[in-house]
Amino acid sequence: MIPRIYIPADSGALALGAEKVARAIEKELKERGVEAKIVRNGSYFLEPMVEVATAEGRVAYGPVKPSDVKSLFDSGFLKGGHHKRWLGAPDKIPFLAKQTRLTFARCGVIDPLSLDSYKSHGGLRGLQNAVAMAPADVVNQVTESGLRGRGGAGFPTGIKWKTVLDTNSERKYIVCNADEGDSATFADRMIMEGDPFVLIEGMAIAGIATGATKGFVYIRSEYPHAVATMNKAVAIARKAGVLGVNVLGSPNAFDMEIRVGAGAYVCGEETSLLNSLEGKRGVVRAKPPLPAIQGLFGKPTVINNVISLASVPIIMDKGAAYYKDFGMGRSRGTIPIQIAGNVKHGGLFETAFGLTLGEIVDEIGGGTASGRPVKAVQVGGPLGAYFPRALFDTPFDYEAFAAKDGLIGHAGITVFDDSADMMKQARFAMEFCAIESCGKCTPCRIGSTRGMEVLDKVAAGIEAEKNLALVTDLCNTMKFGSLCALGGFTPYPVMSSITHFPEDFKPAPTRVAAE
Ligand SMILES: Cc1cc2nc3c(=O)[nH]c(=O)nc-3n(C[C@H](O)[C@H](O)[C@H](O)COP(=O)(O)O)c2cc1C
Ligand code: SF4
Repeated sequence: MIPRIYIPADSGALALGAEKVARAIEKELKERGVEAKIVRNGSYFLEPMVEVATAEGRVAYGPVKPSDVKSLFDSGFLKGGHHKRWLGAPDKIPFLAKQTRLTFARCGVIDPLSLDSYKSHGGLRGLQNAVAMAPADVVNQVTESGLRGRGGAGFPTGIKWKTVLDTNSERKYIVCNADEGDSATFADRMIMEGDPFVLIEGMAIAGIATGATKGFVYIRSEYPHAVATMNKAVAIARKAGVLGVNVLGSPNAFDMEIRVGAGAYVCGEETSLLNSLEGKRGVVRAKPPLPAIQGLFGKPTVINNVISLASVPIIMDKGAAYYKDFGMGRSRGTIPIQIAGNVKHGGLFETAFGLTLGEIVDEIGGGTASGRPVKAVQVGGPLGAYFPRALFDTPFDYEAFAAKDGLIGHAGITVFDDSADMMKQARFAMEFCAIESCGKCTPCRIGSTRGMEVLDKVAAGIEAEKNLALVTDLCNTMKFGSLCALGGFTPYPVMSSITHFPEDFKPAPTRVAAE
């Protein structure tokens, strides 16, 4: 049997030199006259992580540098031989073994552009079931599973789909939000590059369930590899009859296209995204009407995040009850937590809802990369609150985070050590809002700039107490008066910094900075 070597080709691995490793392995194979099949997969962990398929299963090595390649061959790595980069069976590596991979089950395992590989790992079973069901039953399954939107708001996916199903129109759309603008987030990118067919399958199921025949994936321009992989996967799916006028041979039609955003955080907001898709400026639309009633080109539209849609195939394959069995409270199923910032073990960790923030940061993340104490953790991207260690007992659950004035958002976690200056972080939140504001409403457009000015006064020790009260007042105006969550949630990082780290808001001369 010809040996198989898996070398990841997704952005994360490429950024860490996977291409050079692939070239070095190809060269070594040639020089040694050894035949092997190289599969370019998605990534897992410790990138570039190279795997070899042996009779006993896959054996991983990582992170591999081009300079390791010769000695890897000398150590007999094609047969799983020992080497300083040897990691053993990938599913036994603690960071991976502790995960519950439902949505990401195939990511890193299969060749992302092999439909056969996808099918042999359970792919298309969900769609097969969906085409044999009545649309309302498909919607019921998704509702029953408890799946909530993974893009940030946590809105029940089934309810959104039901609104589109129940709205009469000769044309309906499925729009996948792959703008992924939150700090510390990369789950959408990983799934699009590592298992694109699961997203295509999820969108086709959404189409069949709601009566939509056309889908668009709106991908941020900073993701050229995801755009390329998705385009190739759509062409393959179309040729194989997964997309087209008769999806999997059924009477249902569904096709889709990939669109690239021009680059604005606010274009991740669903109505702004719709404007951008229509070729207009990315400005937020007032709601109502909801996109589910009047969305893309004025037609009923499902807008869902990549992970929401990519989680549907397993629900339709194994059933709502199977998925719902994972999680806690009203947060059902699994969530791909993306751990980043100043952390020892960063990466994507898919798990059932319910782990505490402390378990995620200390046990899975291993604490800070700098080795200093963790000071704050921002959960939910740039609009998420900063949590101190005192809140580390908060379980990863939508309601539990909301009860502590925080949010899960797209499940990105940024870790900060004790050298972080929370006043600077609060100012950064206002600055980010000022730069990214679409300008449609006053609390956000003007408030964010005023917020920066007032925080600068606090930092300079000018009437600090009075100005901090003014920031609080301003935050309330932004929170309750903004049209969308960009202005409405900027107060979360600002107010959590002030509430949990008051020592950082003392006037400059008396502030004690950590060394
Ligand atoms: C400023 C702003 C940026 C957003 N960015 C994204 C994004 O990049 N990706 C995303 O899926 N949702 C984003 N959202 C949330 C979307 O508006 C919307 O709730 C989501 O796409 C719905 O899909 P879901 O129900 O599957 O989460 C953003 C919201 C706001 C206010
Ligand atoms: S809150 Fe900001 S981004 Fe949202 S509509 Fe208002 S100005 Fe635009």
